[in-house]
Order: sequence, then C-alpha cells, then structure tokens
Amino acid sequence: MSRRTAFVALFFVAAIALAAIAIGLPSARAQDMGPTVQWGGNEELGAFLVDGAGMTLYVFANDTPGVSNCSGDCLANWPALTVEAGSEPTLQPGLAGTLGTITRDDGAVQVTFNDMPLYYWINDMGPGDATGQNVNEVWFVVQPPTVAVGGNDELGPFLVGPDGMTLYLFTNDTAGVSACYDDCAVRWPPLLVPAGQQPTAGEGVTGALGVTERTDGTSQVTYNDMPLYYWIRDVVPGDATGQNVGEVWFVVSPEGTMMEGETSGDMGEESMGAMLDGNALVAERCTVCHTRDRIDAASKDQAGWEATVDRMIGHGAQLNADERAAVIAYLSSQ
Ligand code: HEC
Repeated sequence: MSRRTAFVALFFVAAIALAAIAIGLPSARAQDMGPTVQWGGNEELGAFLVDGAGMTLYVFANDTPGVSNCSGDCLANWPALTVEAGSEPTLQPGLAGTLGTITRDDGAVQVTFNDMPLYYWINDMGPGDATGQNVNEVWFVVQPPTVAVGGNDELGPFLVGPDGMTLYLFTNDTAGVSACYDDCAVRWPPLLVPAGQQPTAGEGVTGALGVTERTDGTSQVTYNDMPLYYWIRDVVPGDATGQNVGEVWFVVSPEGTMMEGETSGDMGEESMGAMLDGNALVAERCTVCHTRDRIDAASKDQAGWEATVDRMIGHGAQLNADERAAVIAYLSSQ
C-alpha cells in the first residue's frame, strides 16, 4: 500500500469510527484520542491541521498573535479548540510548529498554533470535512509546509514531508524526471501535492520547490529539480532507514545535497569492485530488516533460496537481477 493509499484508507476507518462517536456526543470533541493537534487532510486541500479526533482546525485572519477576536455569534459558529485549565496541549511528533494556550474572557483555555488561536467550524460533520475553508475570506485551514526541516542525531538536519517523515532523492532520476515507477514507487512513495497546488516551504527550506507530473498524472514535489520520495520502511519521524539503500537513495540536506551518512550499511569505495560478491551483498542488503543470524540459521537448497529471496524482495529488499542471482548463488553454496 502506498503512503497515500494508506492515508486514505486510515482516513476512512477513522471517519467511520468517529462519525459514530460524533453522533452520540456532539459536544465532546474526542481530544483524548491522540495528540491535541496533528496532521490530517483531504484529497482537495492536501495536508492540514486537525484535532486528536481528526476534526479540521482553522485560524481566523482577524486574530492577531496570541489574541482571539472571535466571540459571541462568531464563537458559536467557530468553537475554540480548548484544553482543560492546567493541561498542556500536545503536538504530533515531527510536526513543525509550536503549540501554546491563551485564556479567553470566559476562562476557557484556547489552544494556539504558532501563536494563532485555533477553532472548529460548526458545519464540519466529520474528519476530512473542511467546509470552513475560506469562509468570508477570513477562515483558513492551517497547512503544514509540504517540505520542512527535520532530522536525527545520526545524520543531522534533513528534509521531511508534511507529516515529519524523512524524504529521499534517487540518483537514477534526472532533473525534474522521476525514474521510479511500479514496484519502486510502492517502496518509495513519491511526495505528492493535490493537482494544481504548489508545495510550500517550512523554515530553513531554502532550495527551489517545484512539481513534476508523473505518468499517472499526479504531481510529485521536487527540490532543486530532484523528485522527492518517502521510504516505506520508515515508521516514525526521525527514521532514515532508506539512507544509502542500493547506493542510490539518499536523505536530502536542507541545502539540497545528498547526505553522506550510511545508515543502511558500510559500502565504501573499496567494496565497489566486489559489488556482486554474494556474501557482501547479503551482509549489506539482507540485514536491513533483520539480523544476519536469521539467514545463517536457515538451510535451504537453491530453489528454496530463490523463493525466499524473491519473498524478501517483495518485503522491500533492494536487489537488482544480477545482485539477486549473486545472493542466491552465495546462499545456496553455504
Ligand atoms: C525489507 C525487509 C527485509 C529484507 C531487506 C530482508 N528480509 Fe528476510 N525477512 C523479512 C521478513 C518480514 C521476514 C519474516 C516473514 C517471511 O519469512 O516472509 C523475513 C524472514 C527471513 C528468513 C526466515 C524465513 C525463512 O524463509 O527461512 C530468512 C531466511 C530471510 N528473511 C532471509 C533474507 C535474505 C537472504 C535477505 C536478503 C536477500 C533478506 N532476508 C532481506 C524482511 C526482510
């Protein structure tokens, strides 16, 4: 499942589950179901901020930082996102931005995002609804930047998508043109924006953002003309397990250069000539998901290894046809 399909599927599961809750408890926004503020979205607008239950959040253009100018009828239509006095709102890990609170005249504690008070729109019925967008040209969803700066201790700062997940470039791509389709695009889901939408840059993202049209008509985000991808095995923000996979996938620095660290195995210059050394290939490519022990403990004939290696490729092992053959030959000879 691609990240996008996964997202849409998750979205519908959540929509059904929450519709049931929302009908029974219209006033109780289920804030305890997740962080106070997290990343959600819909097909039309792409990513935007939602509450813990997936309900869309808005900012009001007539507010100023730290000050709500919405009360009375306004507040009846645009209920404030609140937390109980004394409790701290929580932000989904990896989502760039700062949450805070302000105390309203009636004592309610309203949550702010980058100092702007957050509201619901009374006409949104369930997760994914964003019918308040652009109402009176003063109400807007909050769209996280398409590309932001994230990072981890090992590699330092690097580019991440709107959900905080690590982005990669593919050295087989050419300027503005993706060479990753089919199985490749399943393992390396392209970072997409909705048709007609331009990607936006978070703080510290200084390169040129653009889009390239894929053969299926979707719009993939580019950075200095390099198409950007996620890696299906990264699970949480900060994961960069795709770094250096196959020596063609790399994490991208904020400056737009490919990063040098070698998360996925040490494949220095001297081992280049031994590319098709089956032992070296197993040591590098087959230990991404589990340890070498798991392989050494198995004893199989050639047909058995062929089936296993093909299953591993299905799981995401990165081997081209020659490398596959070298690995099978090596394993069968052990
Ligand atoms: C992308 C992740 C991933 C990579 C890379 C990977 N594996 Fe696996 N491997 C798995 C998973 C998941 C399982 C357990 C499920 C299964 O057996 O299909 C597994 C199980 C195994 C097993 C135990 C099951 C059995 O059939 O004996 C062996 C042996 C194995 N892998 C060998 C390899 C070899 C050889 C490579 C390199 C060609 C490799 N793996 C690369 C994910 C991976």
